[in-house]
Amino acid sequence: MPDFVLKRHLPNLDVPHVHLGEYPTPVEHLPALGDVWLKREDLSSPLYGGNKIRTLETLFADAIARGFKRVWTLGAYGSNQAVACILHAGRVGLQPGAVLFPQRATPTAAENLRVSLGECDEVVALRSLLTFPWHWLKLKRSREIYLVPPGGAVPLGALGHVGAALELAEQVATGAMPAPRHIVLAIGSTCTTAGLLVGLPLARQLGLWPGELPRVHAVRVTPWPVTARFQVLRLARATACYLAQLGGPTVKVDPKLLVLNTRHFGWGYARITQGGLAAAKHFAELMAPPLDTTYAAKSGAALLEMRGLAPFSQKTGSDPLPGPVLYWCTKSSAPLPAVDDAKLAAAPGHIRRWLKRADRHDSLNR
Ligand SMILES: Cc1ncc(COP(=O)(O)O)c(C=O)c1O
Repeated sequence: MPDFVLKRHLPNLDVPHVHLGEYPTPVEHLPALGDVWLKREDLSSPLYGGNKIRTLETLFADAIARGFKRVWTLGAYGSNQAVACILHAGRVGLQPGAVLFPQRATPTAAENLRVSLGECDEVVALRSLLTFPWHWLKLKRSREIYLVPPGGAVPLGALGHVGAALELAEQVATGAMPAPRHIVLAIGSTCTTAGLLVGLPLARQLGLWPGELPRVHAVRVTPWPVTARFQVLRLARATACYLAQLGGPTVKVDPKLLVLNTRHFGWGYARITQGGLAAAKHFAELMAPPLDTTYAAKSGAALLEMRGLAPFSQKTGSDPLPGPVLYWCTKSSAPLPAVDDAKLAAAPGHIRRWLKRADRHDSLNR
């Protein structure tokens, strides 16, 4: 059984963990963009990868340790976390379920909703966002169901990404890539970014990180206040506190490391942006990992802008951000399972109509 990177460096840490992913996720140079590197979190599992796998490893382990048999999550129709939860839960003996709220109908989201509905009998796809808080409260109070909150944005969930920062530090130390000066990633629930904001200073404290720490450019894809600077720092500080409670060292979160980039949000969550589409196209031409229009394409657009390469940016032509720049690939690139059409045909009318609307988008507009 491969070990958990956090436990490898902090053997006395009392943290629950089950293995779902395959680590370390590779780091790769993307020379076409200059001094740009990729952290291939998209490859965290061949079943379904992406950034949420690390979050689920600690949360599932907690569910098991506390005697739960069922694990449910919450999110939008196109939630990657719901897909990850549904596809991975059975591997560790948990029965998954999800409550999903309506969002903008896009091909990317429809692909995920089809998998969630096709692979799991316990998906409640709400007709309206209005009833979502009630479902959330009900799940929170359940004694039979372990609730993975939206994005897994709790200190225990963020610990997985503290581990990812240590893993990156190991890769830098062994020469797999030079120490990045900037990290660029999409931010929604804040879980991944908060974990990195704890893990990077921890890596330096442990003597794993050479020199200055990188700045973390978190590209906002969800509205304020879901994603706000104070929320990111609050979760990062709570995660640092929690780490100390579990027997780890005291880590100080440095707000200066966080750059919250709000330029690529567009008209709302899951709204497709021209910059995002251009980034997805550019990545595809470079045979780089696929970018989804909800999350990764927006952070990809920010990356291109920072490199002075974005076609839809006023900043095009300005000096590129000095490298090395590390792009955190958060969207799974694993092929999705085929979906049983009969199951979808039996879905409620509002779902079938929503899927039809999503399908009307040009297949390029992913
Ligand atoms: C593909 C992808 N990228 C980025 C994010 C944002 O991560 P976080 O919610 O940890 O901020 C998510 C969240 O679901 C995601 O699915």
